[in-house]
Amino acid sequence: MSETVIGSVYVAPPGFEAVLQAELDRLGSPPDEWLGRLALCSGPPVASVRALDIWTAPEMHSIASIGEAAKLLKSRQRNWSLVPTGHFRRAALIEERLPPVKAAPLVFPQAAPSSPLGAWTLPAPDRLLFSQTKTSPFPAGEPRFVEDREGPPSRAYLKLWEACTRLGHWPVPGETCLDLGATPGGWTWAIAKLGARVTAADRAPLAPSVAAMPGVTFRQESAFGLEPRHEARVDWLFSDVIAYPARLLTLAKRWIEAERAGRIVMSVKFQGATDFDIMDAFAAIPGGRLAHLFHNKHEVTFFWSPS
Ligand SMILES: C[S@@+](CC[C@H](N)C(=O)[O-])C[C@H]1O[C@@H](n2cnc3c(N)ncnc32)[C@H](O)[C@@H]1O
Repeated sequence: MSETVIGSVYVAPPGFEAVLQAELDRLGSPPDEWLGRLALCSGPPVASVRALDIWTAPEMHSIASIGEAAKLLKSRQRNWSLVPTGHFRRAALIEERLPPVKAAPLVFPQAAPSSPLGAWTLPAPDRLLFSQTKTSPFPAGEPRFVEDREGPPSRAYLKLWEACTRLGHWPVPGETCLDLGATPGGWTWAIAKLGARVTAADRAPLAPSVAAMPGVTFRQESAFGLEPRHEARVDWLFSDVIAYPARLLTLAKRWIEAERAGRIVMSVKFQGATDFDIMDAFAAIPGGRLAHLFHNKHEVTFFWSPS
């Protein structure tokens, strides 16, 4: 464990350590050290897209005992989440002495927790690394949901639930939505369950159970063949289309320029290496931002609303 000052800590999505390292290098904040999934940087926090969570005020302390570690954390605030990186038994004994944190899975649609949550880990038996503040309200930036294992035809709906929870907004009854690349229909299922009207578009047919839901209309056509200027305005444009990121960037811009979407939630999928230039181009759209969701795989999610 080095003695360098730690200015920020980034939590990599499971299996995405190399991607986060590449992004942090590019942002001019290369990690000085890795502790499991945690990238430790000496510089102040930078706007990483690929980190699930960013510890914004890290502190390293020497601790003589389990009791001292728990006492120090409790003296700062009530709620703490452990990110285990080693010394697991000792970390578990410290955790037992902290107030329990209610970590029940969310029942969507439900607001994200709002009480302050800190994060900590044990880099060495006698060292405690913690941050009272972090960017995600969830332990390790990982929101969990009570899943529906019968209704949706794919597990992709969890991405939509996480995106909406992160936004703090979701489609409501009376709103209109267009779901591009909708098949087999997990997102469309989730939107229809919220009571909004949804037009699903895909080149392949939707699962019959979803196509039959109230409020669902299906158009079997290419997302790229739709001319936004000829379409009715929708409150929400969703897209989970598998396509080259550059094509998706053009698609998003066409809908924004045509002023036919109130909000956009779009998966940007990468084949192989992350294309950071395309990520920058998405982030440069006024009102746009990107995030790597816990339920994302080799993709990030683009959020847009008018700025
Ligand atoms: C990851 S799947 C979508 C999963 C879906 N969101 C769900 O929740 O079940 C990607 C979809 O993109 C569709 N797709 C690929 N190219 C397309 C295009 N040009 N237009 C419309 N859909 C397309 C594929 O047919 C596929 O169904």
